[in-house]
Amino acid sequence: MKLTIGNVTLENNLILAPMAGVTDLPFRLLCKEQGAGLLCTEMVSAKAIYFKNKNTKSLMQILPRERPVSLQLFGSEPELMGFIARQIEEQPFDILDINMGCPVPKVVNNGEGSALMKNPKLVGEIVKKVASSIQKPLTVKIRKGFTEDCVNAVEIAKIIEDAGAAAVAVHGRTREQYYSGRADWDIIRRVKEAVSIPVIGNGDVDSPESAKRLLEETGCDGIMIGRAARGNPWIFSRIRSYLENGTMPDEPAASDVREMILKHARLQLEYKGEYTGMREMRKHVAWYTAGMPHSASVRRKVNEIETYEQLEELVNMF
Ligand SMILES: Cc1cc2nc3c(=O)[nH]c(=O)nc-3n(C[C@H](O)[C@H](O)[C@H](O)COP(=O)(O)O)c2cc1C
Repeated sequence: MKLTIGNVTLENNLILAPMAGVTDLPFRLLCKEQGAGLLCTEMVSAKAIYFKNKNTKSLMQILPRERPVSLQLFGSEPELMGFIARQIEEQPFDILDINMGCPVPKVVNNGEGSALMKNPKLVGEIVKKVASSIQKPLTVKIRKGFTEDCVNAVEIAKIIEDAGAAAVAVHGRTREQYYSGRADWDIIRRVKEAVSIPVIGNGDVDSPESAKRLLEETGCDGIMIGRAARGNPWIFSRIRSYLENGTMPDEPAASDVREMILKHARLQLEYKGEYTGMREMRKHVAWYTAGMPHSASVRRKVNEIETYEQLEELVNMF
């Protein structure tokens, strides 16, 4: 199903969630090939862009062939966020997203990420400032609330809509929960009932069936997939096939997994070089092989991988 966010129409409503340390350029390209309708970058600090931190450049590298892409910023100062949004607008992203869900102390203690959910007035100011600083559509990713005693996703989503955002993504967990427990999809349904902009549901979609259930139970417009995509870019093609023609595709065969790991590794070589690329592949291989026979020994061995040849040799063993 197509999804329109501002003036950007996505071919389908399946969205790769922003994940720091995961959704870099190589991984996004693989998800794109499998049919994801929108890819999100890792979160990028507005302050780090302002201070020209050298890591932000690679975080913001986007290729024409992966578009449409949403670039995610985090920060808490409306002026700075607006200034940076305008400054980077020429870069090849299609949608700008603001992170209001990150739970990690380093971010929250700065009043950024999910800490913003505690400050509805500031949320409105940030969204208004950024939305009026750029032409591209602005979206915001929120949580259910900060704590179970302060569940305010509906109120925050309305503020975000009124301040000019083109869509809102809702992760059905509080900050307090981090990633534990089950995501509350009812809060997604309640946000959907309260706003007119598209609502993207997020939390615990890990199969074609759960994707369909999220749509049915919440009425949400888009489906955002995070952890289940790690080591599993096929999740996008499998969900698409199930939603579009009701057929349940097979899980990838071992040979598909092997090919995907090597393709992923070649993209890492191309964009990050062998030293960094192969070290980063270690965690990806652990995800790709989780649950497969001998996965524990593969994980052990992969932690010593330093070259593409060593990786190839290892994956040829299974
Ligand atoms: C390793 C990791 C990194 C994440 N990084 C970000 C991030 O940079 N920005 C963000 O908005 N959410 C981030 N998230 C949250 C995910 O986007 C998503 O909301 C969450 O994982 C719930 O969806 P899921 O159940 O499909 O995984 C991250 C999650 C994980 C597991």
